[in-house]
Amino acid sequence: TGSHRKTETLLAQRWTPPLNGTLDGAMTAYMRIGDEFGAEATLMGRGTIAADFTGKQFPADGLVPTPSPVTHVAPQQSGFRTVVFDAKGKTWYDDAKLAGNEVISVLGTRVSEEYLQHLRERGVSYLFAGEDGRDLAAALGILGDTFGMSTVLLQGGGVINGAFLAAGLIDEISVLLHPGIDGLAGAPAIFEATGSPDFLPADGQQLELKTSTTLEDGLVWIHYAVHHDTPENADSPS
Ligand SMILES: NC(=O)c1ccc[n+]([C@@H]2O[C@H](COP(=O)([O-])OP(=O)(O)OC[C@H]3O[C@@H](n4cnc5c(N)ncnc54)[C@H](OP(=O)(O)O)[C@@H]3O)[C@@H](O)[C@H]2O)c1
Repeated sequence: TGSHRKTETLLAQRWTPPLNGTLDGAMTAYMRIGDEFGAEATLMGRGTIAADFTGKQFPADGLVPTPSPVTHVAPQQSGFRTVVFDAKGKTWYDDAKLAGNEVISVLGTRVSEEYLQHLRERGVSYLFAGEDGRDLAAALGILGDTFGMSTVLLQGGGVINGAFLAAGLIDEISVLLHPGIDGLAGAPAIFEATGSPDFLPADGQQLELKTSTTLEDGLVWIHYAVHHDTPENADSPS
């Protein structure tokens, strides 16, 4: 997981600026730290794509589910990818790339053939994560087996981060603390899993601090490993 944010909240446009008055250093450090993981892709939720990359949506009226939900690997794809978790197939693409990275869309099997045709025409790859598009373990399996990925960066927003957390699929957490404040109650946090008030999305998971490093412009980078309880060690402290 990579993230650039202050202690809790996620919306950079709401943070107070650092002493030097610019967020450029935070953005540069965020990209540099991401590069250090040697990942093959960045994973993002549809909400982040709509907010930060493209707000264009595919018209969905009157469409029926495709009869053949089969993984599609667009020809000539290579390099670092952006994987978009877009269960209902809402994002409209002008071409195969978002911010220079070729896209792989993660969908539910109820998306329409018209939408899949749109993706194929634009050169966007796609795969299916169960009927509702929310089987994250299945999606990671296909990214490994079919797309050859072994290391991926989950880079938000909070809703998709929370879904991965609750599914126990996060191995490491990398937090870049920016010296600024949002301050509003209810502003979105790094993890925004949904559930009843007694739901504990991180239950059975422990963080091990690997490094904490003070960087330029008052930034602090904190890197944790995530340990997951297994049936064998669930009741014994590690
Ligand atoms: N500071 C940072 O580091 C940082 C990083 C990233 C984003 N952001 C900010 O975060 C905001 C967007 O975050 P967000 O939390 O609203 O959206 P998000 O996590 O980017 O996307 C959530 C959407 O992903 C789709 N989705 C697909 N599979 C899912 C699953 N298994 N579980 C849950 N959702 C799934 C759903 O779309 P459907 O509802 O269509 O099914 C859901 O609404 C933006 O303002 C962006 O700027 C900040």
